[in-house]
Amino acid sequence: MQWMRVLHVLSTSIWLGSVVCILGLAVICFFQLNERDFLIIAPLVPQLYKTVVMPIALFTIIQGIIYGLFSNWSFFKYKWLLLKWIFILLIALCTGLGGIGQMFAVLAKVESTYFIGGWADGGLVLLFVSLQVLFMLIMIVLSVLKPKTFKPLVSYQG
Ligand code: HEM
Repeated sequence: MQWMRVLHVLSTSIWLGSVVCILGLAVICFFQLNERDFLIIAPLVPQLYKTVVMPIALFTIIQGIIYGLFSNWSFFKYKWLLLKWIFILLIALCTGLGGIGQMFAVLAKVESTYFIGGWADGGLVLLFVSLQVLFMLIMIVLSVLKPKTFKPLVSYQG
């Protein structure tokens, strides 16, 4: 399944790259903009998640399911693969409740009161988006090294 590997590395690179760009945009929003500009630019963060990150994430998860169903990797045969599924779940939470949910909460707060900016307003959004990047970097290291210490969960004979 060499072509799957190429597709997988390409799509995960796009996913990671787009989240890094969103992190950059969020830093600009919270540290460099005034209230008026913040209310125009900040909605682009959930918008980018919806138009770029969600489709490529879904495409990658479909690849994971194809690996699970149609290759010898299976779903949870190896601990490093099981860890990847756990990280996918954590990334989904950090995206939905974190990056998107928190940004909407900050936008609602700024609209009803005022904009402070910096860590005071942006702390949680920046934390959750950074966690997504961190989890994906760990997944890359896991995938490339496929740690030998992580023995197969199920031992097959023959
Ligand atoms: C549910 C999600 C995922 C599953 C089930 C999964 C599964 C796999 C499998 C089975 C391989 C081995 C392919 C081979 O060597 O033939 C692989 C490779 C790889 N995966 Fe994933 N993956 C997932 C998500 C991700 C994500 C989110 C990233 C990065 C952020 C990622 C990065 C990589 C990389 C870089 C490789 C290539 C390793 C190499 O060729 O040495 N994967 N993945």
